[in-house]
Amino acid sequence: MALIGVFDSGIGGLSILDEALRQLPEQDFIYLADSLNAPYGEKRSEWIAERSLELCKYLANQGCEVIVVACNTATAKAIQQIRIELKDIAIIGVEPGIKPAAMQSVKGIVGVLATQATLNSDKFNALLATLPGQCEFIKQAGAGLVPLIEAGQADSEETLELLAKHLEPIQDAGADTLVLGCTHYPFLRRAIRKLLGDSIALIDTSEAVVRQLRRQLELQDQLIESNQHGKVTFVSSKDEVSLLKMAQELMHSNLEMHDISSRALGLA
Ligand code: DGL
Repeated sequence: MALIGVFDSGIGGLSILDEALRQLPEQDFIYLADSLNAPYGEKRSEWIAERSLELCKYLANQGCEVIVVACNTATAKAIQQIRIELKDIAIIGVEPGIKPAAMQSVKGIVGVLATQATLNSDKFNALLATLPGQCEFIKQAGAGLVPLIEAGQADSEETLELLAKHLEPIQDAGADTLVLGCTHYPFLRRAIRKLLGDSIALIDTSEAVVRQLRRQLELQDQLIESNQHGKVTFVSSKDEVSLLKMAQELMHSNLEMHDISSRALGLA
């Protein structure tokens, strides 16, 4: 059995951890939230790359054999370097699901809500360039949304107002599909439904990412069949008590079934 590290700038990656616990409940996980430094999406590329590498090295030192970079922004800016530096560890990243969205959209008009850093990145633009030109993508940076989600305000009036502004160009363009291109945004599902109704399809890639994680464990011969539930350790650079509380509130998984604990990151 492997110890799996899941890392995000904050609580966004809990959307990936939630799916991982659903598909792989028997595995042990360390969830690392760098909430002290969230949001990453408006920071310099070099900073994001350095910090993401530092935190993945921390997870490697804790004994993680697989690391999920559960952050679109960190994946876009840092995954290449992380893979070079941590050669012996399988590193799985997340990217906005623009490909499945293009395949699913009936009108061929897709909204992409992601951080500015993700939208500006070479990695995202290279992915975009691989898709056939018939689909129109309306790219929108979700500035200001991550701090509200980090503050536990995913459903507040303030969030609804800001989200409405960000979704306006996507709505005006007539998109029938919306890519949630930041792992924090699945926690806005309720607010998005309130604003856009049920007719727009929401694409998030957590299921596909965890399928990839499962395949990796299979490759490493570490996929165990057991009805025991594994350990989940929550580590935060800001406040581990509030991280655990947020996890209990936001995740659908029954954390009580797991051996859970939390601790401070203890790095600068
Ligand atoms: N959750 C992150 C992502 O998927 C980062 C958000 C941020 O820190 O700006 O992009």
